[in-house]
Amino acid sequence: MDKIIGSHNNENDNSMFADDIIHNVPIALINYRQHSDGTNATTYLSDWCLELWELSEEQVNKDPNFLWDQIHPNDVRTMKEKVHRSAEDLTLFDNEYRIITPSGKHKWVHGIGMPRRMEDGSTFWNITIIETTTEHDVKDMLNRKTKELKASFKGMVQIVSKAVELRDPYTSGHQVRVAAISTEIGKKLGLSNRILEGLTLGALVHDVGKLSIPIQILTKPVKLSEGEMAIIQEHPRLGMDLFAGAHLPWPIREIIGQHHERLDGSGYPEGLKDQDIILEAKIVAVADAFEAMSSDRPYRKSPGIVKAMKELNDFSGIKYHTESVEALNELLKQGVIL
Ligand SMILES: [Fe+2]
Repeated sequence: MDKIIGSHNNENDNSMFADDIIHNVPIALINYRQHSDGTNATTYLSDWCLELWELSEEQVNKDPNFLWDQIHPNDVRTMKEKVHRSAEDLTLFDNEYRIITPSGKHKWVHGIGMPRRMEDGSTFWNITIIETTTEHDVKDMLNRKTKELKASFKGMVQIVSKAVELRDPYTSGHQVRVAAISTEIGKKLGLSNRILEGLTLGALVHDVGKLSIPIQILTKPVKLSEGEMAIIQEHPRLGMDLFAGAHLPWPIREIIGQHHERLDGSGYPEGLKDQDIILEAKIVAVADAFEAMSSDRPYRKSPGIVKAMKELNDFSGIKYHTESVEALNELLKQGVIL
């Protein structure tokens, strides 16, 4: 039996194969030559080129510079740089760019070609070009949809945050202040916008589990009994349960569940240690402790900012995340947080 993989029987088969590809596969092929004096010429165009650029053969013959003329003005510079680099270093030309067709259509195309130096000093490329407009349209649509989804999530988180504070007027504004402090600490730590976004939202609802705690315990104006404290300490877990079905693009459940954990394992509800607590929860823990200690509660007067910071500094690296405590010290010194 003849070998049928990876070879053709004769020259004729080879050329038929190439012809089939050129005519039937939606790929545009171009032979492009750049002379040493800087001038250039397109020496071959496959049928698909005319389709892609929406040009007739006469138009192409009339304007040999059409390849450059149709490039989107914002992409011309990159194209020039890439052609130049490819010619200089004899490295693969690889560029995705936009073209504008005579009918005004904007298309994305992706061209790839290996250069060869010819005897006369010119550089020659066999460039393969495919249209990638659909890919870009899908990407744009996905980006738009992701933005819309994120906006809906943010709206939902804000509503939930308000619901918690409406139910417990004694701690009104607590989550909003913790979110503001956490965000400032996160900025000082140099976190990316995406992580900051999740940190702010998580802090805004970190006490959501209090919705599931009986109101008499939550707003009791005297010190709580041990049993009542145990119920209150369930709120991180209860909060995680409330967010169990929400598939959010940020670790909000973890922030809710871990904001009372401490580095040395002395926190609750799980007694997690340093390496098992996510950074965002460590930041919220510092901001939460600071905010709680510097505000009045129904059963006690505020110990004040100085005492709050003493507690945080004393236990920095033991219970509280050192870098976050340092950042908070600086923010207070700079007056960013009052
Ligand atoms: Fe809490």
